[in-house]
Amino acid sequence: MKKWFTLRRILIALGAVFALIQLIPVDRSNPPAVPENDFLVQTKAPENIAQIMKTACYDCHSNQTVYPWYSYIAPVSFWLKNHINEGRGELNFSEWNAMSAKEKSHAMKEAAEMVKEGEMPMNSYTWVHKDARLTIQQQEQLAAWFSQVRGGGAETEIESHRD
Ligand code: HEC
Repeated sequence: MKKWFTLRRILIALGAVFALIQLIPVDRSNPPAVPENDFLVQTKAPENIAQIMKTACYDCHSNQTVYPWYSYIAPVSFWLKNHINEGRGELNFSEWNAMSAKEKSHAMKEAAEMVKEGEMPMNSYTWVHKDARLTIQQQEQLAAWFSQVRGGGAETEIESHRD
């Protein structure tokens, strides 16, 4: 009897904590996304590249994040928002124009590597967003596009003699 009583108290306490953390605000507003500053617009990306990136990168690396229903439930909301802040901090495709030539070049090199190595999009993202799982072919298309934007022509190799 005593044991059940304690368990009940623990569950009530947990329930209260869960209810209370829902009150902590999470900013889900997107900063303005100006088309003229956008990577896909600026680089005149072909439609297939734009499709892949909007599906697989733009939720974390742009100001066009689409927030799913579970982004409204704490603590998942905190965790997602953290990824979005971190992702935008590393590379924000909506603010491509604000980057220097050097930053752009570096970002494209990193992006090609990340995609080829299967590190981006993040695993925790593709578990839920199955349509963001890239095929080998899509990985290669993206990496080739990033290399091309970087100025390496059609090269798809990760290791470049310029590095
Ligand atoms: C779920 C959110 C999410 C998605 C989707 C996502 N990223 Fe990221 N990305 C992050 C986070 C968080 C970081 C910073 C931490 C890290 O490097 O793991 C990051 C880092 C990066 C970096 C910087 C790496 C470095 O070390 O310099 C690049 C480049 C990148 N991502 C490219 C992409 C590309 C390209 C896509 C789409 C194919 C993509 N990401 C999809 C969240 C995401």
